[in-house]
Amino acid sequence: MGNRRTRNLLSLVKASAPGKIILFGEHAVVYNRPALAVPVTQVHVDVEILDSPRVGILIHSPGIDLHAELNSLSSAHPIALVILKVFKLCGISQTPDLAINILSTIPVASGLGSGAAVSVALIRALSSYLLHSLSDNEINSLAFEVEKLHHGTPSGIDNTVITYNKPVYFIKGQPIETFKVGRSFTIVIGDTGISALTKESVGDVRSLWLRDTVSFENYFNEIAQIALIGRRSIESGKTELLGELMDQNHALLQNLTVSSPELDKLVEAARTAGALGAKLSGGGRGGNMIALVEQAKAESVADALISAGAKRTIITEISQEGMSQG
Ligand code: MEV
Repeated sequence: MGNRRTRNLLSLVKASAPGKIILFGEHAVVYNRPALAVPVTQVHVDVEILDSPRVGILIHSPGIDLHAELNSLSSAHPIALVILKVFKLCGISQTPDLAINILSTIPVASGLGSGAAVSVALIRALSSYLLHSLSDNEINSLAFEVEKLHHGTPSGIDNTVITYNKPVYFIKGQPIETFKVGRSFTIVIGDTGISALTKESVGDVRSLWLRDTVSFENYFNEIAQIALIGRRSIESGKTELLGELMDQNHALLQNLTVSSPELDKLVEAARTAGALGAKLSGGGRGGNMIALVEQAKAESVADALISAGAKRTIITEISQEGMSQG
């Protein structure tokens, strides 16, 4: 097999990748405006790879009901594509015999980065199984190639925040910048339970932007300002300013037509229950929203979201040390 080094007795390799939320700037980021995203480690994709007595590559991904041989998948299937790209990068010419198990707690098409997390965890696990270590830059570039093939015109923010597992201030095509969290703050994430493909909302925004470029450029500029002020507020520990910024960002996302009645209902319910601000997060039209809360109110806001129809909630603390479950 290709240039694979001797494996000794190692027969099981594991790797994980977190989910993510976008605090400010989704959609505008596709048009080169800045956006802020943070990893969410309470949800994750875990990939394990085992030597297999069977010939070929067997893939199990119960979350998407996939139990298949690599050869039976189209080479454009996102998982097949990742595997083939890793083989190419690692110089593997002959397919090894192995089993790949992909377990995910990130709901699919929900704005939490499930696609990018599968790519990143799979690239990490497979390259490590092949004893070919890849840098974060290489992993990020590969995951971005997969995102491009499956999401039309992604900005690259999802694969970046998930690969580096750090808060990022992201501008498409520019070197990765992380940002400091001056004072920790609490976010409640509420899931509408409605799956919505980012590719579609991004495509719709593009059609509207082409039709009314002036208005949409103005919306993107206002969102960019919010992302910039959001970053400064987080870095200087003035997190109380973030609620108002979230509300403004949500209104602009409504103008972009990417909210939905269910998202608006959860955003409203969070505010009524005492959140300092709330907005949808990610591609929109379904998926998840986020609310900024005082820590003591996190549980009651989460309860209010469930009463308003959320299928589940996550409480996450955004801090310099990393994210932890509340
Ligand atoms: C998706 O998480 C964020 C969007 O801005 C799309 C992208 O940046 O590729 C909606």
